[in-house]
Amino acid sequence: MPFDVNSLENHWMPFSANRDFKANPRLVVKSEGMYCWDYKGGKVIDGSSGLFCTPAGHGRTEIAEAVYKQMLENDYIPHFQLGHPGSFELAERVSRLLPDPINHVFFTNSGSESVETAMKIVMAYNRANGQSQRLRFVSRERAYHGVNMGGVSLAGMVKNRETFPVTLPNVVTMRHTHTPEQAFTKGQPDTGAELAEDLVRICETYGGSTIAAVFVEPIAGSTGTLVPPIGYLKRLREICDEHGILLVFDEVITGFGRTGKAFASETYGVTPDIITMAKALTNGAIPMGAVAVKDEIYNTITNASPENAIEFFHGYTYSAHPAACAAGIATQKIYEDEGLFDRAADMSQYFLDAVWSLKDHELVKDLRGYGMMAGVELHHDGVGGRRGTQMQKDMFWNGLHVKFTGDNGILAPAFVAERSHIDEIVDKFRKTLDAHV
Ligand SMILES: Cc1ncc(COP(=O)(O)O)c(C=O)c1O
Repeated sequence: MPFDVNSLENHWMPFSANRDFKANPRLVVKSEGMYCWDYKGGKVIDGSSGLFCTPAGHGRTEIAEAVYKQMLENDYIPHFQLGHPGSFELAERVSRLLPDPINHVFFTNSGSESVETAMKIVMAYNRANGQSQRLRFVSRERAYHGVNMGGVSLAGMVKNRETFPVTLPNVVTMRHTHTPEQAFTKGQPDTGAELAEDLVRICETYGGSTIAAVFVEPIAGSTGTLVPPIGYLKRLREICDEHGILLVFDEVITGFGRTGKAFASETYGVTPDIITMAKALTNGAIPMGAVAVKDEIYNTITNASPENAIEFFHGYTYSAHPAACAAGIATQKIYEDEGLFDRAADMSQYFLDAVWSLKDHELVKDLRGYGMMAGVELHHDGVGGRRGTQMQKDMFWNGLHVKFTGDNGILAPAFVAERSHIDEIVDKFRKTLDAHV
């Protein structure tokens, strides 16, 4: 499919090397199932569900038809003081998947907005609860919580911070959980739980009663799949309980089956106070995110206001957009009807074994993985991230899409993948590595 080269100039692309991309664009013009096609007709298998967004595979007609129907029926309704049925149905469906007592869902349009919203919910809760002295947030090195100012303030990835020095004050970071002795651990490492004690040290340094919330990704996704050590999340929960600190799991990647259960919270048996989500909520078809909170948080904030008064001064023009809700409901039906979370759990061993076949490759420094998600860390070539960037491009032209962060390739196929798809992904990954030796 031809395109006008000049027309590439006007779109300033996000998280992209714009000049390099525009010189040799990796333009995708079609996607279906496990594949997408570039404008030259090349067929590319999607090894990362786009950006962890499409567990049900690309081009699901059920979702497209639901959105189309919704657009003709009721295209836009502001959610400030008005409503439409879809948002209530979707919230009910999502809360059925969440651990009890997390039953209240606030809709946003992205993961970044979910993180911002969660931070504001924490502040509103503490204010309503007479705990306004809790001004500090705790996050973690190597964390990714999106790109808005709250999320950047919590971030632990240097490239996402150093250009933007003005962030929120009062954020303290714990160490990340990946240690050298965990190298090539498949599943949860059995060392490293003691890193949760960083939170104790922070409480001892600043006073636990000054800390509002701890934000962690159960599996740190964007920095290359850092799987939590056994006992680590449970210990964080205990310390938070001891000091009255809210625990927030950022499940923007792990939500909706990636770890083999609906949420990583269930997989690891630790219930936080708040869960953020996005991406797979609508199978990536329409932008949407959400923040789910415990009943007590919703009730405290809601009951702190007089009847008839707005309780939480926050929301987006497109919160719970009818098209997004239609996409979300259709997506959740697919997950349920096709048992896709169970399918992810069943396929995980095959997937991880296939990825571990890369273990002895001379360019591979480490492998990490859980459920349907794996990180392949490459040795750098003298300049951190250069090899990964090149590898991502070469893989694409070799017929494989993989999300890379620096030298970490992150594999996360759709749950509809067959074994043959997983073989193809790993095979193309290996062949591209071979070409670099
Ligand atoms: C854990 C986590 N939080 C937040 C975000 C931001 O989501 P979005 O890009 O939809 O704003 C991401 C995106 O990858 C993420 O992985």
